[in-house]
Amino acid sequence: MKYLRKELQGMVPYEAPYITDGIILNANESPFQLPNEIIEKFNDELKKVNFNRYPDMTSAALKDSIAHAYGISRENVACGVGSDELLQCLFNAVCDKGDKVVVMNPSFSMYAEYAKIYGAIPVHADANADFSFNLDNMLRAIKDNNPKMVVICSPNNPTGIVVDREDIKKIVSSTDALIILDEAYGEFDDKTNVDLINEYDNLMVLKTLSKLYSGAAIRFGYALSKKDNIDLIDTVRSPYNVNVLTQTMARIIIENKDLYKSRIEYFKEERLHVYNELKNMGIEVYPSHVNFLWMVLSEKVADELLRNKIYIRTMKFNGKVYRRVSIGTKEENIKFLKVVRDNA
Ligand SMILES: Cc1ncc(COP(=O)(O)O)c(C=O)c1O
Repeated sequence: MKYLRKELQGMVPYEAPYITDGIILNANESPFQLPNEIIEKFNDELKKVNFNRYPDMTSAALKDSIAHAYGISRENVACGVGSDELLQCLFNAVCDKGDKVVVMNPSFSMYAEYAKIYGAIPVHADANADFSFNLDNMLRAIKDNNPKMVVICSPNNPTGIVVDREDIKKIVSSTDALIILDEAYGEFDDKTNVDLINEYDNLMVLKTLSKLYSGAAIRFGYALSKKDNIDLIDTVRSPYNVNVLTQTMARIIIENKDLYKSRIEYFKEERLHVYNELKNMGIEVYPSHVNFLWMVLSEKVADELLRNKIYIRTMKFNGKVYRRVSIGTKEENIKFLKVVRDNA
């Protein structure tokens, strides 16, 4: 790329396959469409949209719904085009060139990518050998590196582990750095640490509608924190980032969160079922608090899955190949398990 900044040389455009046919278990999405009630409400509201006008750049009505859901104020909420955009805004607003950012390892790859794009240096706090969270490694990485920001992903992508609430409190109170707690998968564990933003000035929690809420296509995420931290995002985001269709749909989803209760139960039961089935086959698979499982599958199994149009995610960690597999519908999970069983 002729015009690419010097510091970005070697980076390549982000790519993710757009798959429409087959069994899609590679992106941690929900296998279920939005609840019908939500689609119906959206269709009703669509008739009232002024498409010729710019949307409310403050997303005020949506922020009010989010604030109401958590018992906080509008000024404690920022809205983004997915939590991806919020992360990008935070790295942009917070990191000077050469600043350190401590991230869990392994964790969501975009943290380190955004660090690089904005000239920050990602510092890894390694997990234990069984992928459980290692608090000592995290506290040492913070103490030794004096980071500007720390990103905790709980429950963690790609391993599915959670960081204990007490550990989160210890991390947040150990430093003055801004702590980003990414709870993209928090709903699958039925727990949240959002209330801690009232206790700690340096904590921000990120949430998304792309996972449990079946809203990946509308691209919406939100951040919750003290006003001063929320202003970081609003200072660097583009003015009309969240379009009117997304604002409308996101508000309806947030106002109808109760419709998802049975889905939470579904994912809890189904991930345990798939986990037990894999364990019984002798597969190396890790306990999960989310809608995906972290495991080791042979090349032969992976090839057979692909041949059957069952798409999963392959990742390398410390030189070893792992697979991350989303929990699909019951029917999809049966098909996935059959291919693994027949080829293990
Ligand atoms: C941990 C984590 N955070 C953030 C995101 C970004 O989600 P979105 O931009 O769809 O809100 C993802 C997406 O997979 C993720 O796994």
